[in-house]
Amino acid sequence: MIRARKILAMVEAADKLGLLTELARQPLTLTDVAGRAEIDRGMAYKFLTILAWNGILMRKGDHWALDGALRAEVESGALPLLRIEGWATRDHLNAFGIVAALRGHRSPPEIDNHYVGALAEAMLRGARASAPHLARLPLWRDRAHLADLAGGTGGYAILLCRMYPHLRATVYDRPEMLEHTARAVADARLDDRIALEPWELRGDPVPAGHDCALLSHVLHLLDASARVGLLGRVRAALAEGDPVVVHDFMPGTAPGTPSPEEAASAIDWLANGSGFLPDLDELGAELATAQISVRSVTPLAATRTTVVSAACTRGLPDRHSSLNGSVERKS
Ligand SMILES: C[S@@+](CC[C@H](N)C(=O)[O-])C[C@H]1O[C@@H](n2cnc3c(N)ncnc32)[C@H](O)[C@@H]1O
Repeated sequence: MIRARKILAMVEAADKLGLLTELARQPLTLTDVAGRAEIDRGMAYKFLTILAWNGILMRKGDHWALDGALRAEVESGALPLLRIEGWATRDHLNAFGIVAALRGHRSPPEIDNHYVGALAEAMLRGARASAPHLARLPLWRDRAHLADLAGGTGGYAILLCRMYPHLRATVYDRPEMLEHTARAVADARLDDRIALEPWELRGDPVPAGHDCALLSHVLHLLDASARVGLLGRVRAALAEGDPVVVHDFMPGTAPGTPSPEEAASAIDWLANGSGFLPDLDELGAELATAQISVRSVTPLAATRTTVVSAACTRGLPDRHSSLNGSVERKS
């Protein structure tokens, strides 16, 4: 465990020096490494040797090559997530942060501005894997205007608009994130159907004019009372029967033991103070408080996430009803 922590520090240092991406492209010589990282050759040699001793690099003659598994990770886009994790570890995802959170401290939902680009890239990649599953829900077919709340880079809105030609979407997020969203929407040539609105997750109302809403990887940013507040603002903007889709890591909603990814994500939500660890009854009760009623719960095996499909109700639904009967398995 202690060695793993030290190895991660060395990998992060290699990334900070700009070497990981370079090494994933091609093996480098000592001269290359010292030059690119702007460090003394003697220290560069020690750094490379210790990386090799710990299995991060392999030496081939006078070249140093990245370990195959790590190279595959870099090539598959793991660096933005590594950088975000590094920020979170310094900020709150550490023993001090977890203890503070257990004693009532709440981290703000925003990532440091310096890492918004990394988050945008990671979200776009995540959406490529999850959005096709969400888009298969039949509920989108007769919808006209989606509110994609804290919609990030817009990956979900983009795929839904591509699949449903009559659908328009507005992505609501921080201005810092919307700069990245604008590029993704322009690349998808959907500027005429996807609007972007600066929006504050913790207090802004959801504007009227929508007939469906998506909260993907959003509820885990907020504690229970803030989640209910947000769901209430969503409900206030929609009409009876309109669908609300929640998508997130939700260990405990699918039968069986949580996957390693879900179990690790639970540590994030503990450390940020949101305590987002809903079982079906708890999530159902939060939605019910906002007059939104769960229709189906679909664990996505491919992404280890869960899609909760819900609909706005008129009166207060029965808060004591169990939702366990409605879980479906999806591969
Ligand atoms: C984990 S990302 C999810 C993005 C997207 N929904 C998805 O699933 O890919 C959380 C999003 O919340 C946004 N966010 C965080 N704090 C916010 C705030 N105070 N107001 C508005 N958006 C916020 C972030 O910019 C980010 O896009």
